[in-house]
Amino acid sequence: MQRLQISGVDLAVEIQGQGQPLIFVHGFPLDHTMWEAQIAEFSRDYHVLAPDLRGFGTSGTGSGIATMERFADDLAELADCLGLSARGIVLCGLSMGGYIAFQFLRKYAALLRGLVLCNTRATADADEVRENRYRLATKVRQEGPEVVVHQMLPKLVSDETRRERPECLDRLETMMRGASWEGIAAAALGMAERPDSSALLATIPCPALVIAGEFDALSPSSEMQAMANAIPGVRFEVIPGAGHMTPMEKPREFNAILRSFLQSLEPRST
Ligand code: MLT
Repeated sequence: MQRLQISGVDLAVEIQGQGQPLIFVHGFPLDHTMWEAQIAEFSRDYHVLAPDLRGFGTSGTGSGIATMERFADDLAELADCLGLSARGIVLCGLSMGGYIAFQFLRKYAALLRGLVLCNTRATADADEVRENRYRLATKVRQEGPEVVVHQMLPKLVSDETRRERPECLDRLETMMRGASWEGIAAAALGMAERPDSSALLATIPCPALVIAGEFDALSPSSEMQAMANAIPGVRFEVIPGAGHMTPMEKPREFNAILRSFLQSLEPRST
């Protein structure tokens, strides 16, 4: 784990392996360890980066609302700081990580060699979801991460995972409890104000892969399919038996899909 000063915030970043850059962006309110199985697999032949986003894991928090654009700026600065910008980045984001990937696409499309959108959506929040985020941001100040553990943990994995791989839930709970209340509130408010990115789907300038979970209660596979339909030339995969946390719940299947996509990309020589 390395620590880097990015936009004035002390970010913890797992950096492993050599080769083409591959950046994993975690969901809310988690940290880079959700990508443990992917870091182990892909650092064998890729230059893997998996940051704890500001406010999460062991990274510093920064100030103000953590907009999806702010997170995307952090990733671009991180890539620049490590000299990766010219090499072409594959960005792989799950859920909030996907919202961040859309903002990255808006501002830094030229840096992308491939885009992987997991268990996420391009649309902005419905009013009710937005209101819930405002309530969460207030409540987490008073009660701490327990509020999100209570609200989110039951929805993150499929029944099969809950039954057969309970350690996934333990790991998710540990990540959630490790987030600071400031980080959770800042990102909840940032997600609430994210813009609709649906119009971007038809303009994605690089190869794209969309991965859904068959039983995802938060980003249903039918919605993911509709999103994928709007992306020209996309690969779309639904992982059977998985919920929202596809990379953790079904690491073998997830890694096989991602590897096949990565192998289909033309390397950049610069
Ligand atoms: C996530 O997994 O990042 C969250 O479900 C995103 C959200 O709350 O919209």
